Amino acid sequence: MQGLARVVTRDAEFHGRQLKKGDRVMLMFAAANRDPSAFECPHDIDLDRSANRHRAFALGVHRCLGSNFARAMFRVMITELLRRLPDVHVAAPIERLADAGDVYAVKHLPVRFAPRPREGVGMPAHSD
Ligand code: HEM
Repeated sequence: MQGLARVVTRDAEFHGRQLKKGDRVMLMFAAANRDPSAFECPHDIDLDRSANRHRAFALGVHRCLGSNFARAMFRVMITELLRRLPDVHVAAPIERLADAGDVYAVKHLPVRFAPRPREGVGMPAHSD
């Protein structure tokens, strides 16, 4: 999710800009997550980042209800991926779906890695 639109509920000033009740604003979570005044080396993937108050799951009353589930899934996915393919890296520009709206939907993600033996090959086939 790159960001979400909101309607301003009262007149307010935000970083020197005057906002009026009823204005539509776009909250760009993805840009906030790359704010160099908030994150050291914001463009680097750092799985051990500790000061990490990112906005990927939004903020406030509508903050993502599934954030802890999503974190658990990502932890398993990244751990298993790096365990199987420790040298995996993105090998070409990422191609995105053109019609996915605010979602950063990936159409093609070419990766490169050294081939390794498949796990489980040679195990007897499961039969019911
Ligand atoms: C990487 C994965 C995910 C990301 C980046 C993400 C991101 C977000 C964001 C930005 C919002 C805020 C929407 C808003 O402000 O209107 C949201 C809301 C929500 N998310 Fe997620 N989400 C993820 C995974 C999940 C999962 C796995 C579930 C459920 C199992 C889930 C359930 C929800 C629900 C129910 C809301 C609405 C909360 C509300 O409006 O009160 N999300 N999510």
